[in-house]
Amino acid sequence: MSNTKKRLLTGLQPSGTLHIGNYFGVLKPFFDIHEDYESMLMVADYHALTSLRDPEALRQNTIDVVKDYLAIGVDPAKVTIFRQSDNQDHTELGWILNCMVTVPFLQQAHSYKDKIAKGLEANAGLFTYPMLMAADILLYDTDTVPVGEDQRQHLEYTREAVGKFNRAYGEVLKQPAEKIYKDVGVIPGTDGQKMSKSYRNTIPLFGTEEEITKAVMSIVTDSEGDRPENVYSIHRLLKSEEELESVYQENAGRYGDLKKILIADLEAFSGPMRDKRNSITEEEVIAVLAEGAEKARSISGPTLKKVRKAIGIS
Ligand code: ADP
Ligand code: TRP
Repeated sequence: MSNTKKRLLTGLQPSGTLHIGNYFGVLKPFFDIHEDYESMLMVADYHALTSLRDPEALRQNTIDVVKDYLAIGVDPAKVTIFRQSDNQDHTELGWILNCMVTVPFLQQAHSYKDKIAKGLEANAGLFTYPMLMAADILLYDTDTVPVGEDQRQHLEYTREAVGKFNRAYGEVLKQPAEKIYKDVGVIPGTDGQKMSKSYRNTIPLFGTEEEITKAVMSIVTDSEGDRPENVYSIHRLLKSEEELESVYQENAGRYGDLKKILIADLEAFSGPMRDKRNSITEEEVIAVLAEGAEKARSISGPTLKKVRKAIGIS
């Protein structure tokens, strides 16, 4: 049965604590459809190395991201949860794909440009990031990649690499498609820009009540109307427009009160998941990753073998 299902794969970088942008942008969409596919969920630790140079933080964040996956209800018996660096096929295919695309092409990547504009170091790993991501996807003959809007271009880059490779060597790699939830879009952070672990503007998914309160209180509300747009767009993730209409009408212009209501709604939403998360041990996570690594390698191995043969290094 499972081998007739199409394959779904997505990943998150363990570069910091997951936030509600990650949850509503990609984890929830992944979770909502994962049972219809043969699903894989990756921890992109080599990608995180482009911005994180603290070994203990990388190790701890990796464990934490897996706990987050389990806490939102992902069942490791149904989903292959694995760590990128446990499978060396990623770096090998990543290198091969780097040889398919040009420097000017990679220079056009929005994500690269945005990160540099935000002051991140323009290291070569950050520059070739899209081809490592393409390798993550292509090694598993992935059909569908649920991601947030900001990752759309990375999928276009992946398809470009597939096109170049297949034109040169024959139909070896499978073209993947992204799955982006239009009504979610890019979730703003506390400063109104894209919420991102790299930008220190997040509302943590599993934060304590205190952390959530601090983050919500810091949301920038420079809009002049009755409705603070940055508060509303986060609130909209938790409640429907109809539900919010009366709340925002009753509290028109009272930004502080609206923030307090948002804090209570965030707490009601994340509290139960946070309790579940607290019960997951590091040992459990290590066991899940060990099993996931084996499964991942068993799928990527045959793909890489075909690639090596095609390019003449088998
Ligand atoms: P971050 O920018 O916080 O480091 P990642 O780049 O690791 O997050 O993104 C992980 C996933 O979460 C991606 O699929 C991305 O599209 C999604 N995502 C991240 N931030 C947002 C956001 N603000 N709105 C919607 N989706 C997001
Ligand atoms: N680039 C993605 C992000 O920042 C993370 C990622 C790495 C990914 N490899 C992937 C997402 C493969 C989907 C598929 O969000």
